[in-house]
Amino acid sequence: MRNVAISLVVAAATAASLSLNAQVPADGAQLLTQSGCAVCHGADGQGTAAGPSLDASALSLDEFVASVRQATRTMPAYAAEILPDEDLSRMFAFLEAQTTEPASAGRVDVGAELYSAYGCYSCHADEAQGGQHGPRLGPDPITYARFEWYTRHPTRTMPPYSTVVLTDQEMADIYAFVEAQPQPPPLESIPLLAP
Ligand code: HEC
Ligand code: HEC
Repeated sequence: MRNVAISLVVAAATAASLSLNAQVPADGAQLLTQSGCAVCHGADGQGTAAGPSLDASALSLDEFVASVRQATRTMPAYAAEILPDEDLSRMFAFLEAQTTEPASAGRVDVGAELYSAYGCYSCHADEAQGGQHGPRLGPDPITYARFEWYTRHPTRTMPPYSTVVLTDQEMADIYAFVEAQPQPPPLESIPLLAP
């Protein structure tokens, strides 16, 4: 633990010298690596088996800072003396600049076929609404970066789908299909659930 603390102080010192050339998003990437975040969250914040993808579009800057300041069971807390708010906002700017959209446009009709062919439906149900063996995926899915990350590296009971099995284009197609699912009826329209 002491070693970790020392290397964090070293990282903070290096980070301080870096703050001279602020505004460069690449500087946020260096901070992620130097502060040790990349070990768990990946060099671009894309996620690894040890930590989720850091998707700035799903978090506000305040939420981002709050998460970093508070330890969880698996993530250490980073106090402001070690990692100032200013450095965190540069990391956040870098993460915001990362794309959360698929590289190529998804095709809803192809996605529907793949969703069925790859068996997603057997756990997540026909319209991705979720069932006994898997949670709801859409409409309004989690961001593409997270969706792709989880499908490729699930951490619990879901089987992994690597790029060998499911190409990036096919992933984008499935995502488009999930996004295109109809909204569930409003609760007020279900007599038993009406307030
Ligand atoms: C030892 C691995 C590890 C390190 C190092 C680490 N994290 Fe994490 N982080 C996690 C894990 C795992 C989670 C998911 C919550 C949990 O289970 O603890 C997480 C959650 C987060 C979250 C919340 C994500 C969300 O969507 O709610 C943010 C933000 C975050 N980390 C940022 C950072 C930053 C910035 C650093 C470096 C300063 C960092 N983390 C270092 C493992 C790590
Ligand atoms: C054998 C059942 C099963 C199959 C098949 C399956 N999933 Fe899952 N999936 C799950 C379960 C269960 C979870 C909840 C987390 C866990 O236990 O891994 C999950 C979670 C997810 C998540 C994360 C959802 C979230 O809100 O974080 C995504 C994305 C996902 N699945 C996509 C897919 C896609 C796309 C396919 C098909 C290519 C697929 N799944 C096939 C069972 C399955």
